[in-house]
Amino acid sequence: MANTARRIVVSGATGKQGGALISSLLSASSHPFEIYALTRNATSRSAVALSTKPNVFVIQGNFDNPVAVFSQVEKPWGFFSVTNPMDAKKEEAQGKAMTKAAIDAGIKHIVFTATDRGKNSDEDPTTVPHFASKFKVEKDIVEKSKQSGGTWTFLRPVAFYENLSNDFLGKGFISMWRLNGNDSKMKFVSTKDIGKVAAEAFLKADSEQYKNKAIALAGDEISLEEFGNVFKEETGQVLPETFSFVGKGLKFALHEQLGIMFNWFKTNGFGVDPAESKKAYAFLKDFRTWLRTESAWKRE
Ligand SMILES: NC(=O)c1ccc[n+]([C@@H]2O[C@H](COP(=O)([O-])OP(=O)(O)OC[C@H]3O[C@@H](n4cnc5c(N)ncnc54)[C@H](OP(=O)(O)O)[C@@H]3O)[C@@H](O)[C@H]2O)c1
Repeated sequence: MANTARRIVVSGATGKQGGALISSLLSASSHPFEIYALTRNATSRSAVALSTKPNVFVIQGNFDNPVAVFSQVEKPWGFFSVTNPMDAKKEEAQGKAMTKAAIDAGIKHIVFTATDRGKNSDEDPTTVPHFASKFKVEKDIVEKSKQSGGTWTFLRPVAFYENLSNDFLGKGFISMWRLNGNDSKMKFVSTKDIGKVAAEAFLKADSEQYKNKAIALAGDEISLEEFGNVFKEETGQVLPETFSFVGKGLKFALHEQLGIMFNWFKTNGFGVDPAESKKAYAFLKDFRTWLRTESAWKRE
């Protein structure tokens, strides 16, 4: 790689979206980047695996100390921002502090992955605390980029297919969804597909398509009943699920993170039309395709 390579700091690099971005960049026919993959623990298995990839440099740091993160990268150009939603106030503070440190370090283009927020994502923070925190991080990026002359792309994905899993949280997800009714619809997207769009947002940062644009992403809209039918057809199994009292307990115990959000799914719901998303990104997978090709139940 020539010394002129643009340097991108990727947060959430060991997670689903950041990991998918890195895979997409590495599989591009050519990419002019050096990738600085952020993790809190450079010795974890996923961090070590990243460090073996070409043009990937693992850096250790924490959203709590953003200046120390960017001080490890000389002349960084791009920043992929993922935030931690467990405590919305902290998410907002960390997200804004990461933006400030990124811009102070000279970052020119920020790709922030937030979330779709219904019919009016640009103006409505929603009642969901960790959607509202992302709304505020977006507004802050717009403001700070205006001052610095930098650019941004916001990704606004809907629910991840990867929420479906055979563990406690995956089973809880289906139980909480079922509390909204078998006919209640949900919109989904594959995190690998988000990674592809994120990679393009860096590769074509100056284009009309990505420069200072917000992009909502969905691959499917499906009722719980259909979701279960497709799952049965593809895997021969019933959906991983737990008792409804567990779903209710989760919504109660994690009211801020899950309870309010599942209520919002019923009263409002994601806004983007998957057909519109697919006009721009034909590769966005529907549920059946995701099950077949990427899920833990995929056909070998
Ligand atoms: N699940 C959904 O359906 C859905 C839908 C739309 C949006 N979202 C949003 O997506 C985001 C999560 O993205 P994801 O699912 O791709 O992530 P993920 O797979 O849950 O991984 C989390 C990543 O964040 C890093 N991280 C966490 N806390 C950190 C800290 N204090 N300092 C530095 N790094 C930290 C972790 O790195 P290490 O562990 O290596 O340090 C890891 O790479 C959340 O904001 C969530 O609200 C989720």
